[in-house]
Amino acid sequence: MTLLKAEGITKSFRTGDIDTLVLKGVNLVLEPGEMVALSGPSGSGKSTLLNILGLLMQPSDGALSFMDKPMSGLTDKQLSAIRNTHYGFVFQFHHLLPDFTAMENVAFPAAAPAGGISAEIRDRAKMLLGRVDLTDRIDFAAMRLSGGQKQRVAIARALMNKPELVLADEPTGSLDRENSARVMALLREINHEDRTSFLISTHDPEIAKCCDRQINVVDGRIA
Ligand SMILES: Nc1ncnc2c1ncn2[C@@H]1O[C@H](COP(=O)(O)OP(=O)(O)OP(=O)(O)O)[C@@H](O)[C@H]1O
Ligand SMILES: [Mg+2]
Repeated sequence: MTLLKAEGITKSFRTGDIDTLVLKGVNLVLEPGEMVALSGPSGSGKSTLLNILGLLMQPSDGALSFMDKPMSGLTDKQLSAIRNTHYGFVFQFHHLLPDFTAMENVAFPAAAPAGGISAEIRDRAKMLLGRVDLTDRIDFAAMRLSGGQKQRVAIARALMNKPELVLADEPTGSLDRENSARVMALLREINHEDRTSFLISTHDPEIAKCCDRQINVVDGRIA
């Protein structure tokens, strides 16, 4: 099985009467268990590509398949079911629920479909918070956490449902060197334990070095 395959993905954005072509035909294949860094200058289209690969945004053109199934022609409901079951997301601007505690934020991907936080969900959320060194912040509201702590909560949340693929958009962007190394070590552990694949956008060559391979977005294409 191929985990993810993108062929000829293009994306243009229309502002006023000007079309800007951001992605100009991206081809890429991710195999199960791969850990891949996505690099490229600011504005090159990394976040746009992650949104498309994550089924959060429709490409202008091109074909995408996930776990060997074509993703074109699916309804929003079908796409969100695939996302909820098989994907984990770490967004560039983490998107935590500010009034919810760290534990509730991590539990959310499992709690939302289940209709509540069971003891099992709570235990896994707490375990994941332990693995990002936030045991002492489990009951803090997300808005009372530092930027780096929020980012670590977002990473724990992405792992909640044991996804096949985690798309992480600069997951260590607000972490210091020591914490980013720790987060990368954790992602590697999860990658080995659960065979989770990761696609990680980053500007940090140290992060890219921790991955199996690196792909570069240059001028709307994979270089
Ligand atoms: N909704 C939108 N409407 C119009 N243009 C957009 C939109 N979203 C992104 N763009 C443009 O697409 C280009 C790529 O943006 P994107 O956020 O994908 O870059 P990036 O590689 O993630 O950059 P960074 O490293 O700074 O996060 C930018 O030039 C941006 O202005
Ligand atoms: Mg970005």
